[in-house]
Amino acid sequence: MHQPEDSNDSGNPTIGSVVQARLRRRQFLKASVGAAAAGLAPLPLVACVGDGAHAPRPGRAGRLALGFEAVSKSIADALVVPPGYTARVLIAVGDPLFDGVPAYRDDGDNPDYALRCGDWHDGLEYFGLSADGSPDSSATDRALLAINHEWVSPLFLHSAGPSAPPRPASEVDIETAAMGVTVVEITKDPNGRFRYLSQSPFNRRVTALTEIEIAGPLRGHPKLITRHSPSGTRTRGTVNNCGTCRTPWGTLLTGEENWAAFFARDAADAARRSEAENYALARYGRPPGAPQAYQWNTVPDGSDRYRRWNASVTGASVDGRDDYRHELHGQGYMTEIDPYDRTSVIQKRTALGRFAHEAAAFSRPRAGEPLAVYMGDDARGEYIYKYVSDSPWDPADAAAGNRMAVGAKYLDAGRLYAARFHEDGTGEWLLLERANPAVAGYDRYPFADDGDVLLHARIAADGVGATRMDRPEWSTVNPANGDVYITLTNNSSRGLGGEDGGFGVDAANPRTYEHRRQDAAPQSGNVNGHIVRLAEEDRPDSTRFRWDIYLFGAQSDADASLINLSGLTGEQDFSSPDGIRFGPGTELCWILTDDNAMTDRSNAMMLAAVPGELGDGRFLELDHGGTTVVTRIGARPQATQLKRFMVGPVDQELTGFAETPDGCALFVNVQHPGFGTPRDGALRPERYTSHWPGNMGYGPGGRLARPRSATVMITKDDGGRIGS
Ligand code: FEO
Ligand code: CA
Ligand code: CA
Repeated sequence: MHQPEDSNDSGNPTIGSVVQARLRRRQFLKASVGAAAAGLAPLPLVACVGDGAHAPRPGRAGRLALGFEAVSKSIADALVVPPGYTARVLIAVGDPLFDGVPAYRDDGDNPDYALRCGDWHDGLEYFGLSADGSPDSSATDRALLAINHEWVSPLFLHSAGPSAPPRPASEVDIETAAMGVTVVEITKDPNGRFRYLSQSPFNRRVTALTEIEIAGPLRGHPKLITRHSPSGTRTRGTVNNCGTCRTPWGTLLTGEENWAAFFARDAADAARRSEAENYALARYGRPPGAPQAYQWNTVPDGSDRYRRWNASVTGASVDGRDDYRHELHGQGYMTEIDPYDRTSVIQKRTALGRFAHEAAAFSRPRAGEPLAVYMGDDARGEYIYKYVSDSPWDPADAAAGNRMAVGAKYLDAGRLYAARFHEDGTGEWLLLERANPAVAGYDRYPFADDGDVLLHARIAADGVGATRMDRPEWSTVNPANGDVYITLTNNSSRGLGGEDGGFGVDAANPRTYEHRRQDAAPQSGNVNGHIVRLAEEDRPDSTRFRWDIYLFGAQSDADASLINLSGLTGEQDFSSPDGIRFGPGTELCWILTDDNAMTDRSNAMMLAAVPGELGDGRFLELDHGGTTVVTRIGARPQATQLKRFMVGPVDQELTGFAETPDGCALFVNVQHPGFGTPRDGALRPERYTSHWPGNMGYGPGGRLARPRSATVMITKDDGGRIGS
């Protein structure tokens, strides 16, 4: 689920891209739409700009094949996996994590959420444990799972749903505690199945109120000063935790995505702010009076922990030490947590920039080279970013004892870039520092210093002319060849630009079309999303890259000349890719969807893929009724290279993904089943649109249970490696 945000009015070039594409198209060996529709072999690339110098790199295509039977699309309120596989629930929202906490009840009477598994499971990481409790990245029978919690469902967290504002403290305390991150120990039982431990000394809850340090360039910055931290060095909580990343030294990075929605900004606040402040707040989705989620600041007792959710100027100070005008500057980071030490101090790694962080993926660590971190900013028209560490990688750090100090070494000093995609299949990383004249001279916002550039990375990326993308979500790196994959989930604002409206199409975001459902009004834009793929020209700190589009989401029966460009069949078709992850044990690429377009035909799903490599396809010219755009598409997936592996229950999305190092167990998060349940009228079980996982026998409630976000474990019935 995504709260739509559309605050990029930077005007970064898109129409010009189309014109350029028209001029350049004769340079390409033209791949006709007819050839694409007929699924003919890819045309040779001998005439392609930027390709001649690159010899084919080793890839895995052909070595691996998907051996399971593809799962059909499903709208059942059930988890569906291939024959020969079994899915079991491991832990769900509300399950106890500490000694003495009562079992979850189906009637909504579950206080103490800071002692229970949180809600809306999102990103997920596996951290192996040895028998003696020390970190062991190869462990396959004992581990810690770190689970992100993106939003909450007040409808199901309280006995009779949420109260209208002013919100009672008792409800707000449950909701803020059900956010954040859960760390929980899991062990394998004698039957080879994992179960979670409700009394492990490793179990930890991080909530919207946990004390967290500001690390990196923004530590102590004047724009981080709040009533809670006049020194600008601390904040409380991590919220809207979306995708995750496991660092090469064994810690968790959790992405803070739609944090802006939690903060109130009253209508009169604009008059109390400078022009620059007002511009920046609006660019980050907080114009005065913006809609606010949950309204936690309305608790009548005025306690500080509720007041903090009002980001309006309410005090008289010049620097903000008497109110929470800067409180939303404490959210929007990649935040590092050491899962192995529940007492360790959590750090917001501000050098990686502040935006709607989805997930992150590291480049393949190589001794003596810096580390790159690839990240998406998930809102319509936002950017893809790369962070490059100042410190070169030292392999000894992979097993260092003080993991947070290693995190500081690599993540507190580096450079941040935003991506611009060119029509010839190349791209460039644009430096986001004031040393770049396009940043220092940007006429829409005066950056006070380089800390301000990180704090307002979106605006700096506007200034340098980065490419506005179709909602960048997860990123992952192919361990076999280093190719970076980034999902672009969809974009209802992608159009033809100009009089037609919306962002104009460009080479990296080339589709806009009408998508017809059986049961609702048509949707338009890039409705089904795509997956872009890029490779550095040389090292992780290269400022040039090459790219193509690995896959376009589409219904199998959609127009093959403009929509189903990847030629997806009924066993492969999907919409709105969100999670993506190369599994270390299965060696497969797993794609998870957060869909609201194909749901008349199927609930959100997970697919397994054996991708080829960047450049294995062809250039393609798309004709949008007179407006043409040239893009570059990957090879059409064969039946053994892309298959649907799982479909989830009703009104959910499949979010986080992790697996054991041997590839014999998968862990997948199911988020917000039953999200479509009516919010008006009485809360009655027969109105819930999902009863999962109670209806599969997990927890209380049976076939009329309240729906619950949960982590599931999938194993092969013969105990073998999954997928192939
Ligand atoms: Fe939290 Fe962009 O999905
Ligand atoms: Ca999502
Ligand atoms: Ca997501």
